Amino acid sequence: MSSAIALVFIGVSVLFLAGIKLLSSPRTARIGNLVAATGMLIGLFALHDRAGNSVWAHGWNFNFTLIALGIVVGLLVGAAGAYSVKMTAMPQMVALFNGLGGGAAALVAGLEFLPGARSPSGIAAFTAGSMLFATVIGSLSFSGSIVAYLKLEGKFERPCTFPGLNILNGAILLAILALCGWLTFEPADSRAAAVFVGMFSLAVFFGVAMVMPIGGADMPVVISLLNSFTGLAVAADGFAINNLAMVVAGTLVGSSGTLLTLLMCRAMNRPVTNVLFGAFGSGGGARAAAGGVAGAIKPIQADEAALLLVYAQRVVIVPGYGMAVAQAQHQVRELADELGKRGVETQFAIHPVAGRMPGHMNVLLAEANVSYEQLCEMEAINPTMDRVDVCLVIGANDVVNPAAHEDKTSPIHGMPIIEAERARNVIVMKRSMAAGFAGIENHLFSRDNTRMLFGDARASLSEIVAAVKMS
Ligand code: TAP
Repeated sequence: MSSAIALVFIGVSVLFLAGIKLLSSPRTARIGNLVAATGMLIGLFALHDRAGNSVWAHGWNFNFTLIALGIVVGLLVGAAGAYSVKMTAMPQMVALFNGLGGGAAALVAGLEFLPGARSPSGIAAFTAGSMLFATVIGSLSFSGSIVAYLKLEGKFERPCTFPGLNILNGAILLAILALCGWLTFEPADSRAAAVFVGMFSLAVFFGVAMVMPIGGADMPVVISLLNSFTGLAVAADGFAINNLAMVVAGTLVGSSGTLLTLLMCRAMNRPVTNVLFGAFGSGGGARAAAGGVAGAIKPIQADEAALLLVYAQRVVIVPGYGMAVAQAQHQVRELADELGKRGVETQFAIHPVAGRMPGHMNVLLAEANVSYEQLCEMEAINPTMDRVDVCLVIGANDVVNPAAHEDKTSPIHGMPIIEAERARNVIVMKRSMAAGFAGIENHLFSRDNTRMLFGDARASLSEIVAAVKMS
C-alpha cells in the first residue's frame, strides 16, 4: 500500500473514531453521523487493488462504471429508506441494513477466496482464515438479521423451537468449523469450491436457526449482537484484502455492538445467554398473564389530569414505547413548556430500554427540542421519586412495572425499573389495559395512587395541554 493511501486511511479512521465519540450524546449525534459518513466517502476514493496500488491509476478500465452504479444505487435506496421509515419501524430498518452489511462482507470474502485459492500463487493460511471467518460470520448475520426483521414486522406469531434445537445448532456449528478448518489449509484442493458453497449454506441456515427460537421482545438485543458480528466480518475482510479502513470500521462496529448488547442485557438484568436461549417475551407463559389486572382501576379525564399537573410542584414524565407509537413527543414538549411557565419543575425519566431500541426516547425527545437538562437517567431519578407530586407515564408499561422488584415469579423480576409507584400521584396514559412487550400484567395500574387516562397518547396530551392553557 502506498504511503499516500495509508495516510488517507489513517485520516478516515480518525473520522470514524470522532464520529463514534460524537454519537455518544444526542446533542452531537447528528454531526457525528455526518463526520463518520464523510470518512466513509473519503475511504471510497482511497480504494486500492490487491497489490496496494490506487485504483485510480488503472484508468477507466477498473470498472468504475460498476463502482459508480453501486454507489448511486446504494445512496438512493439508503436515503429513500431513511426518509420514509416511520420512527416506530426504525429497529426493523437497522436489522435490514445490518443484514445487508453482513451479506456484503460475506460476498467480498467469498469473491476473494475462490479466485485467490485457484491462482498460481495460492493463498496464505492467515488470509484464507480471515476470508472464511468473514464469509461465515457475515452470512449468518445476513440471514439472522432478515429473520429478526421479519419478527419485528410481526410475521411470526410465536418462536419456532423444538426439543433438541440447541443440539442441532451445536452440530451445525461444529460442521461449519470443521469445513472452515479444512478450507484454511487446503484452499487449492479441487473440492474446495464445493466445500465452500456447503460451508456458506450451513452458515446461512445457522443464522436462521439461531434467531428463530428467540422471542420478539428480545430482537433489539439480537440485532445489536448481529450488528457486532457484521462488524467483525468487515474487520476480517479488511485483514484479508489489506484494507485498513475496513479493519478500523469493522472493529469499531464489532466492539461497540458487543458493548451495547451487554449494556442492554444489564438494563434488563438478564444474561446474554438467557436472551439467546430463553425465548422470553415470545408468547406462551408470559402472554397468558396479559389482559387483566386484579384490583380496581380508577380512570381520570384530561381536564382533571391537567389540574393535578398545574398544582404540582414537581412533575416527572416517564415516556415509553407508546409515546413513539403515538408520535406524541411534540405534545409532550409543549406540556413541559406550559408547566415550566407556571413554575412547575418538570423532568423526564429515561429508562435505558424504554421503547424498542437503545436511545429511542432520547432521539424522539431531542427531535421535539426537549432540553437535555430536563432528561434524567433512571439511577438519578429513582432516589427522588418520593418527592414527586405527579408521575406522568406516557405509553410506558414494562419499565414502570413494580413486579420487577416485588414478584419473584415475574419474568421481568430483577429488571431495574423507574419507581413511578413511589410518586404521590401517578397518571398512566395508554389506550387500554393491554400488556406491554413482555406480555405481563402491571399492578401499578391498580395502585391507590394511580389513575388511568385511556386513549391515544397524542390525543390525550393535546387535551391536557389545552386544559393547562385554560387554567
Ligand atoms: P412497553 O412495555 O412495550 O409498553 C408500551 C405501552 O404503550 C403498551 O402497554 C401500550 O398499551 C402503550 N401504547 C401503545 N400505543 C399507544 C398509543 N398510541 N398511545 C398510548 N399508549 C400506547 O414499553 P416500555 O415500557 O417502553 O418497555 C419497553 C419494552 O421493550 C421492555 O419490555 C424492554 O425490555 C423491551 N426491550 C427494549 C429494548 C430497547 S433497547 N429499548 C431492547 C429489548 C427489549 P396500549 O396498547 O393499552 O395502548
